Amino acid sequence: MKRLSFWLLILSAALAACATSPTTVERPTEEPLVAARPTRTPPPTATSVPTPGAAPEAGEGFAAAPLTQVRDRFFSGSGVCAICHTGLSDESGADVSIDRMWRGTMMANAARDPYWQASVRSEILENPDLRQTIEDKCATCHMPMARYTVAADGEKGSVFGEGFLDPGNPLHELAMDGVSCTLCHQIQAEGLGLSGSYSGGFSIDTEQPAGERVIYGPYRVGMMMVQTMQASSGFAPEQGLHIIKSELCASCHTLYTPYVDARGEVVGEFPEQVPYLEWYYSDYRRLQSCQDCHMPEAQGSVVISITGGPPRSPFAKHSFVGGNAYMLQMFETFGAEMGTTASGQQFAAARQRTLQQLQEHTATVSLDEVRLAGSTLIADVSVESQVGHKFPSGFPARRAWLHFVVRDAAGEVVFESGAVNADGSIVGNDNDEAADAYEPHYLAIVRPDQVQIYETILTNTDAAVTTTLLRAARYVKDNRLLPAGFEKGAPYEDIAVRGRALEDEDFLGGGDRVQYQVEVDEAQGPFTVTVELRYQSIGYRWVENLRAKQAPEIERFLGYYAAVPNTGTLVASDEAEAGK
Ligand code: HEC
Ligand code: HEC
Ligand code: HEC
Ligand code: HEC
Ligand code: HEC
Repeated sequence: MKRLSFWLLILSAALAACATSPTTVERPTEEPLVAARPTRTPPPTATSVPTPGAAPEAGEGFAAAPLTQVRDRFFSGSGVCAICHTGLSDESGADVSIDRMWRGTMMANAARDPYWQASVRSEILENPDLRQTIEDKCATCHMPMARYTVAADGEKGSVFGEGFLDPGNPLHELAMDGVSCTLCHQIQAEGLGLSGSYSGGFSIDTEQPAGERVIYGPYRVGMMMVQTMQASSGFAPEQGLHIIKSELCASCHTLYTPYVDARGEVVGEFPEQVPYLEWYYSDYRRLQSCQDCHMPEAQGSVVISITGGPPRSPFAKHSFVGGNAYMLQMFETFGAEMGTTASGQQFAAARQRTLQQLQEHTATVSLDEVRLAGSTLIADVSVESQVGHKFPSGFPARRAWLHFVVRDAAGEVVFESGAVNADGSIVGNDNDEAADAYEPHYLAIVRPDQVQIYETILTNTDAAVTTTLLRAARYVKDNRLLPAGFEKGAPYEDIAVRGRALEDEDFLGGGDRVQYQVEVDEAQGPFTVTVELRYQSIGYRWVENLRAKQAPEIERFLGYYAAVPNTGTLVASDEAEAGK
């Protein structure tokens, strides 16, 4: 929070500065009231540029592979940038190298992601006539550099066959570099935050020739440093404060997908994942940006290039931690055969950071009042979210749920709701048992086959439950936990609460309360009550529905899936006793 008011201060200061001298807005410094950090970049302390292609590091399980050095019309591979923006450490001595952190993230691996590939294939199998449209759409954000390059010539991106996944495709290397340095850092301020920029509608300059292109960053960089970077990479750094705003991320993290009716005709657009809009209508819009939470600050200042330069602060770590510990574990296990550039150890570190975020900065759960009324045990559970958008958010396969257990004096289970099976299904969840059923949102839970699951349930144009993205026309259930300050009844059709959570008076911005009323009958107290909040990035039904389809990408993903247990992550828990 401290950083926030500080940012507001800076923004207004920046605006004021703009009024007088439009091009010289300084990057905010950490302590605005004490002496400013060097504002002009001193001459570089080292002028020699190291040779490309640093040796792969040894990893846990498998080693890192070199980042691609490919150079194209608009973009270049991350390896071109990693030459200098590596070997960085903060004031605590921690390694904050940009390349090392980034390469183990979901964004760096967006094209290799076996679940993504299986899912693109599955969509095509459902709608073979739309193959070209589907591949072009899906490549827009998961293979953005390759797709942008062909789109500039008015062509469509393709994924399979001789498309971007084929090593023979001229844009293969750019495609496999995922959401990379020269993609994010070339996004222009123009149009950001407006609906035209959503669904991958960011704009990147197509006029500047290679060698003279601009990379936006948060700082004002001195002439010598600009030349150092440009001479080696062909890109000149330039201050562009739009890079630190949520609207930059919103261009890909606001996704509307076209959907078709039973005859395969496109009949509308569906808000498939819109964390930016959820954030926008919460308190966090005024408090913290996507970057504040997803690119946490390094400790103290950092010299951002191995060629030297002034210490920069705040320095945002390129950790991009979300919730997908599961897929990171898949990469950690099978990365070598998937051809990742990150090592097993780098994936392990990224997964560790994800678990830490889920367990320390996501939500709390508490048993407020546990009491016995005759043979009924009553427990009030509250869940409080600390997330800057819905929890879960993002891709609609994500879900979180409550696992609630009552044990008697001897430790025997008297009541249980929300246990997870070894195969990743949730005991008592109708949707895991049958594709067309689902659990409603509960105000109170009285039977073990009722489970409070915070999730989305999608239906198609015929009102049947679906996990096919191109058939998803609406949400019949969306009781994902709301961010603080989100007005439930109000604001916006595309992020509305759906289903019974609408009528639940204590399902509100910031959290939910559920009452458990459990018959303990003859069981002997005192009773021990435990509640867990668990999270899964791929809900069971989403995987089950893939099994019906046959294709190499689907088989491969299911093979990996079978080897990596999907029982979810424990986010928070509480314990209490009753009937002593
Ligand atoms: C030869 C070394 C070198 C290479 C290669 C290099 N950079 Fe830089 N980069 C620098 C230096 C030096 C600075 C300025 C450091 C400072 O002023 O603190 C810089 C600054 C930046 C900044 C901050 C700019 C700002 O205005 O805030 C970004 C972003 C950046 N580089 C991205 C990239 C990307 C993307 C690539 C690959 C296309 C790349 N760099 C390649 C040396 C390099
Ligand atoms: C506008 C950008 C955008 C487009 C277009 C897009 N995606 Fe995504 N996709 C994302 C983002 C962002 C995420 C990550 C969200 C999250 O982590 O919850 C994601 C995540 C996914 C995931 C989950 C991956 C995992 O490991 O859990 C799948 C599967 C997926 N997308 C499939 C598709 C398919 C199929 C298409 C084409 C129909 C598509 N995407 C088009 C942005 C996009
Ligand atoms: C998903 C988008 C994204 C990708 C991919 C990305 N960056 Fe950044 N980068 C940012 C943002 C946003 C900032 C500014 C963050 C802030 O200060 O809040 C930034 C900041 C920087 C800075 C300035 C130092 C700092 O943290 O303030 C450098 C240098 C840089 N990036 C280089 C790179 C390099 C090299 C790569 C590829 C290995 C890369 N970036 C990949 C979004 C991205
Ligand atoms: C107040 C901190 C905060 C802010 C602000 C924030 N996030 Fe998050 N985000 C989190 C936390 C914590 C998680 C992990 C819990 C989870 O999975 O939702 C997360 C998860 C995610 C995920 C994974 C989806 C999922 O639910 O598994 C995506 C994608 C994401 N954030 C994107 C964004 C974008 C885009 C923005 C800006 C519009 C943003 N976040 C702003 C804290 C924040
Ligand atoms: C070019 C499109 C693009 C841009 C711009 C972009 N993202 Fe992403 N992001 C993606 C895609 C695609 C994925 C999902 C990759 C996958 O799961 O296969 C993703 C995944 C993520 C995740 C991981 C979610 C998880 O579940 O672990 C986080 C966190 C995230 N992005 C944050 C950001 C932030 C913060 C910004 C802005 C600085 C940003 N992204 C900008 C496309 C983008």
